Amino acid sequence: MMRILSLGWIRFAKAGRSENSIIMADGKKQATWGGRFSEGPAELMLRIGESVSFDQRLAPFDIQGSQAQAAMLAHVGIITLEERDAIQAGLDVILTQIKAGEFTWDPALEDVHMNIEQALTLEVPAAAKLHTARSRNDQVATDMRLWFKSACDELDLSLAKVIAALVDLADQTQEVIIPGYTHLQRAQPVPMAHHLLAYVEMFARDRTLIAAVKEQANVCPLGSGAIAGTTLPIDRDFVAKELGFVDDEGKPQLTQNSMDAVSDRDTFIQFASACAAVGIHLSRLSEDFILWSSVEFGFVKLPDAFTTGSSLMPQKKNPDAFELVRGKSARLTGNLQMLLTMVKGLPLTYNRDLQEDKPPVFDSFDQTKLILDCVAACLPGVSADVKRCAFAVADPALLATDVVDYLVKKALPFREAHHVVGALVALSEQLDIPLNKLPFEEVSKIHEALGEDWVQAFDLEKALAARDKPGMPGPDQVAARIAHWRNV
Ligand code: ARG
Repeated sequence: MMRILSLGWIRFAKAGRSENSIIMADGKKQATWGGRFSEGPAELMLRIGESVSFDQRLAPFDIQGSQAQAAMLAHVGIITLEERDAIQAGLDVILTQIKAGEFTWDPALEDVHMNIEQALTLEVPAAAKLHTARSRNDQVATDMRLWFKSACDELDLSLAKVIAALVDLADQTQEVIIPGYTHLQRAQPVPMAHHLLAYVEMFARDRTLIAAVKEQANVCPLGSGAIAGTTLPIDRDFVAKELGFVDDEGKPQLTQNSMDAVSDRDTFIQFASACAAVGIHLSRLSEDFILWSSVEFGFVKLPDAFTTGSSLMPQKKNPDAFELVRGKSARLTGNLQMLLTMVKGLPLTYNRDLQEDKPPVFDSFDQTKLILDCVAACLPGVSADVKRCAFAVADPALLATDVVDYLVKKALPFREAHHVVGALVALSEQLDIPLNKLPFEEVSKIHEALGEDWVQAFDLEKALAARDKPGMPGPDQVAARIAHWRNV
């Protein structure tokens, strides 16, 4: 449980030194760096300085990093094997306490790193050697890289679930033809499946982005120290291997510049950027479902479990889940913007501003995972309203472009054919007769190339079947794409 900051701190006139410079003369806790200070920080300094309220979620990674650090220190002979074992066992106990919610986080100790080290030091004397050749600067960089690798795995799983749900819905809607839109005006007919599979392409690209972030995170910063490494005989390869910072052949991957390693936040930005891309795609998908579920469109019905009613209007069924997905995606672009702005003016190397890097990436992760999981859970309950879709797509104007193609096949230049069909559309509006029902004597007056067979251009099935090249909405192409996504 978090202790209330304002109650937790007393100023000290003089700092005493315990064995490890953590306990003040009167027994109160002081941060590990407190040796040169004669009084503790102001209460407001503590409030602005603490990060444990949000970085405690790094605890499993911090402990993993410290256990690897202890193993490395023993490996090179800086600590004994007994000290290593005591440190590692003590950290296991702390991890169990944290998982059970029994660990007391103290904001006076600033962050997750010092809270854990302090708790360990109280139990295991050798813990005073754990921070040898390490700084919180390379420690937090390591923790975050471990966190990013795990977060990317989780997001990838959630993306795969959304893709699978979209492919299932596409499978069910291969024969449901709807108007496709440009400028939100009816454009050309497409199977609903083709529209849904457009999003699958986007989410598949997002998986590639997430995989690239994971790859970028897979480099070990430990050994960079605060800024300039260490004079101690550490083994960077050893600790990198312990933590799984290795390539496909098991070769350790190390950061190559200690100053870059402690101040680089590119992975944070790439991660937030990948989350923002996912968010934008989910937001557009949501917008489509919000429109499609309105009475005006009526293409789909949304499941009750992901919609809400109105406290006033009994008839309402609101698409809240999709609206919230759309709303939350704004946070994702905001988080990216925050990180870009924070890093832009910072001189090398570490500056405390960088502590603020964590809330936006944690928020991006939490919200992205939530909205992905929400959409994946909602999609199986979405059903197409076949009648309403058929009614909307019966508008013959959707096939005006196919009449142009009919004329082009009769050797008219495209521009002229476009003009001719434009005249037909104008005539249809003027006579208030659907395009395909215009009397042929009127039609034939517009251009001699228009034969009685011109109405065949309005055969929806044929129109779609003719679109049989890669990427097109023809039924064979759509079916092939569904099969493709089922196999990746
Ligand atoms: N909580 C700190 C952060 O996340 C850890 C690094 C502190 N380094 C320092 N030089 N004060 O940025």
